[in-house]
Amino acid sequence: MKNLNYSSTFRNLTFLGVIIFFHACGSKTPAPVATPAPEANVVIDTKAYSDSKGVGKFTEVKLEALDPARADLGKAIFTNKCTTCHKLTADKFVGPGLAGITSRRTPEWIMNMITNPELMMKSDPVAKKLFEELLTPMANQNIGDEDARNILEYLRQSDNK
Ligand code: HEC
Repeated sequence: MKNLNYSSTFRNLTFLGVIIFFHACGSKTPAPVATPAPEANVVIDTKAYSDSKGVGKFTEVKLEALDPARADLGKAIFTNKCTTCHKLTADKFVGPGLAGITSRRTPEWIMNMITNPELMMKSDPVAKKLFEELLTPMANQNIGDEDARNILEYLRQSDNK
């Protein structure tokens, strides 16, 4: 009788082991399905450097030594069309303070933002996050490509002061 009990206990343990084994294997398969898309979990710090070029027509902007004449042209447009919402200090106004902007964002990102803020707010993660934080959309100021480049030069100049 004792012998029989022992072997049935042993059989039960083996059975349990098999169940655990299959359970462990089985539970691996559905896990990736339940995992949310990776970008849903990415925390964006809008004050931090981003190497993104943004979304828009500017995919490659080559920078050279600062061109003061260009910066002057940019300053005139900036004073006219941007100071209603932006300061060149770190202080937030309607939009973010633009101090250090040329070291936080790529030239391409800045020019895409200046020329097509609607598309950027819709499709670029950093611009989207800025919009969520400030709850005001950046207005499209109908800035042409050359003027956007001039403004970028002015922002570079103002960052290097
Ligand atoms: C009506 C107000 C308004 C005007 C005018 C405006 N902006 Fe903006 N800007 C914003 C807001 C608000 C944001 C934050 C993003 C958003 O909510 O769309 C922003 C974001 C930006 C950013 C990104 C800032 C960051 O920290 O990454 C840059 C660069 C910028 N603006 C440049 C300009 C320039 C250059 C002009 C002038 C051609 C301009 N803006 C005109 C409101 C404005």
